[in-house]
Amino acid sequence: MSKKLVGACIFGQSGGPTSVINASAYGVIRTALDTPEITKVYGAANGVVGILNETLYDMSLEDAAELELLLNTPSSALGSCRYKIGDDDLARILEVFKKYDIRYFFYNGGNDSMDTCNKVSAYMEKVGYECRVMGVPKTIDNDLFGTDHCPGYGSAAKYIATTVAEVYKDANVYDTGMVVIIEIMGRHAGWLTGAAALAGLSDAAPDLIYLPEIPFETEKFLSDIEEVYKRKNNCIVAVSEGISYADGSLVSQANPSQTDGFGHAQLGGLASRLAEYAKTRTGAKVRGIELSLLQRCAAHIASQTDIDEAFLAGKSAVEYAVGGGTGKMVAFTREYIDGKYHCGIAFQDLSCTANVENKVPREWINESGNYVTEDFIKYALPLIQGENTRKIENGLPRFAKLKKVKV
Ligand code: F6P
Repeated sequence: MSKKLVGACIFGQSGGPTSVINASAYGVIRTALDTPEITKVYGAANGVVGILNETLYDMSLEDAAELELLLNTPSSALGSCRYKIGDDDLARILEVFKKYDIRYFFYNGGNDSMDTCNKVSAYMEKVGYECRVMGVPKTIDNDLFGTDHCPGYGSAAKYIATTVAEVYKDANVYDTGMVVIIEIMGRHAGWLTGAAALAGLSDAAPDLIYLPEIPFETEKFLSDIEEVYKRKNNCIVAVSEGISYADGSLVSQANPSQTDGFGHAQLGGLASRLAEYAKTRTGAKVRGIELSLLQRCAAHIASQTDIDEAFLAGKSAVEYAVGGGTGKMVAFTREYIDGKYHCGIAFQDLSCTANVENKVPREWINESGNYVTEDFIKYALPLIQGENTRKIENGLPRFAKLKKVKV
């Protein structure tokens, strides 16, 4: 049995928001508030940045019903950041941890956030300060290593599949035909773009899908579109924002000089550029649609499976740490019991997950590199299941209103 550790905890969110990251927040905060070993529950404003500048919220002062609404509130309720910590920052974090007697640190984010979490964990161990550090996964990109899937992916995938199906319906009305190019997020991994194929289950499948895992060739892309358009008088294309040429250069980089704290290029604007090329080539009516932020916080169509699992990830992180665990990221496993999908919990070393991107396997992409296979669909389908019943006021979603009382 591991030693009982009594003290306060800090929870922070980092990276791009999702529809369900606040469900993980609720999982951590609610469980921590109900755990006797955890004496105080602090929320960091804008992730690690809030720890560095000591902007912490006292989560015990929140109304319990409002906190619960976090389950259905998209975006990062405490604010987020894309900040890469340096050595000086680690010393400062220790100072803050000592000041507030922080013995538990829960960090909710993607690859870069797991890097932060891993550094904090290693540093606390090095200096001999007892603090249990846990990563709580999130990312619509679904590219975290060591987990079957990531909280946030299922909801974004559901939004994408539904939107592609609806666009398909819209784009098939005229006798004159049309080409539509839909740009989907996901940076270097094609999990989200591949989810467009799920629209096929509503008889509204896109015709072509281009993932960043396959080097992009403009000529092949245009001849693929031309072939479909000639045959069907219509063509719906899903393309990842992160596609790059064989030399590694990105087809789209909204502003080459603009990168975030981790050096990632800001992507976007690809759909309209590719639409121009397709228009010139086919002479068709062409529209380019960039799903952009619409796909990230589309909580109105969140997957209930995703919400439940996101909550479970947060709750499991607290329970594991209180039980003596540290230096891990909560991960999901997948089982089929009597043919029914079941999500299990595992714990992965932070050092293994930090900065490693999990890509779509080559065998889940067709030989031509312009669609995903049946295995991909089987993988993604259970993750978009379940309809969310959320609180509505004035015909609109009622999101959590937190007081965010500063300490
Ligand atoms: O969080 C991941 C992600 O949503 C990527 O899919 C996307 O490329 C990136 O964030 C966009 O980041 P930002 O919000 O900083 O523009």
